[in-house]
Amino acid sequence: MSLARIFKEHPERRYIEFGGKGGLGKTTFSAATAYWLASQGHKVLVFSVDPQASLSDIFQRDIFGKGAVEIMPRLFAQEIDADRHIKEYQDEIRQKILDMYGFEQVPEEIEDYIRAAAAEPAMEESAIFDAVVDIVVGGEYDYYIYDLVPLGHALYYLSMASVYDQWIDKITKLREEMAEYEQVAAVMQRDKEFQEDQILRELQDIKYRINTSSSILTDREKTAFFFVIIPEEMAILDTQKAAGLFAKYNVPISGYIVNRVIPPELAEQNIPDYLRHRLEMQAGYLDKIDTVFHDQVLARIVEFERDITGLPMIERMAQAMFED
Ligand SMILES: Nc1ncnc2c1ncn2[C@@H]1O[C@H](COP(=O)(O)OP(=O)(O)OP(=O)(O)O)[C@@H](O)[C@H]1O
Ligand SMILES: [Mg+2]
Repeated sequence: MSLARIFKEHPERRYIEFGGKGGLGKTTFSAATAYWLASQGHKVLVFSVDPQASLSDIFQRDIFGKGAVEIMPRLFAQEIDADRHIKEYQDEIRQKILDMYGFEQVPEEIEDYIRAAAAEPAMEESAIFDAVVDIVVGGEYDYYIYDLVPLGHALYYLSMASVYDQWIDKITKLREEMAEYEQVAAVMQRDKEFQEDQILRELQDIKYRINTSSSILTDREKTAFFFVIIPEEMAILDTQKAAGLFAKYNVPISGYIVNRVIPPELAEQNIPDYLRHRLEMQAGYLDKIDTVFHDQVLARIVEFERDITGLPMIERMAQAMFED
């Protein structure tokens, strides 16, 4: 039962993900792991696509939409501004239509279509996904820590093939809708065939990038996926269910980390009944967690006396995770 050992035994696992239900400690563990790895001499990027800017909160630095920001030597954090990426996507499509058909302005119907497409969740996910691909295939860092959004969403990101398919459908549909303009455009445009090839090549390139990164993120060799869990009935049940789903997407699970464990040594002190009951309750669920996930349980992290924000608290959390 050691988290540090997993990292030492598997130096090839360079893509680290913490998954789990909302609010259990994914961002906290991501930040603390990044801190620990950086302290060990590795160059680390911890990044998220969460519009809630939780990394800004935990590092107490406004890093949202600012690219990779150096927090301390070798530790970089990045928060992707999804809305901006969606806008850039729209602009890109607009520009392509203008270039391809030689319009000076995007026709109103097309403009409507672009707006509608951007409102689609698939478009949003694709824009985000593309940003993640850029980060992950960059190869600049020793470790990439992907601070995931809560489970349901994370599953969606991880089912990348389907996101990609939806995106391709969208583009294909857009091209079909463009067909009616082609008559007009054909007059103005001589190198149409070349342009078609270019779009196809671009799609193939995107496909390549998506395949590369989705295979990295779900690669048994290169990825370590940890589930965050707490000693409570619902959390255990939900995690069991989720683990089943992740298995379906072939996401390899490296282990489970139990968070928010009330320090057991409190039981020896003179404590109120309320706390004693909670300790007993947790003891029962901790047993259950061990029974259900047995040797896959890598660490138990105590509940601190305050929230984990700022580097000194992150350091304490890193110690609890990797040194205790
Ligand atoms: N062991 C702990 N002791 C004390 N506070 C903790 C502990 N673990 C997490 N917290 C606090 O709990 C809150 C939620 O944690 P965190 O933001 O890491 O969860 P999350 O899983 O990333 O949430 P979300 O699903 O919303 O992204 C934060 O305020 C964090 O500081
Ligand atoms: Mg979070």
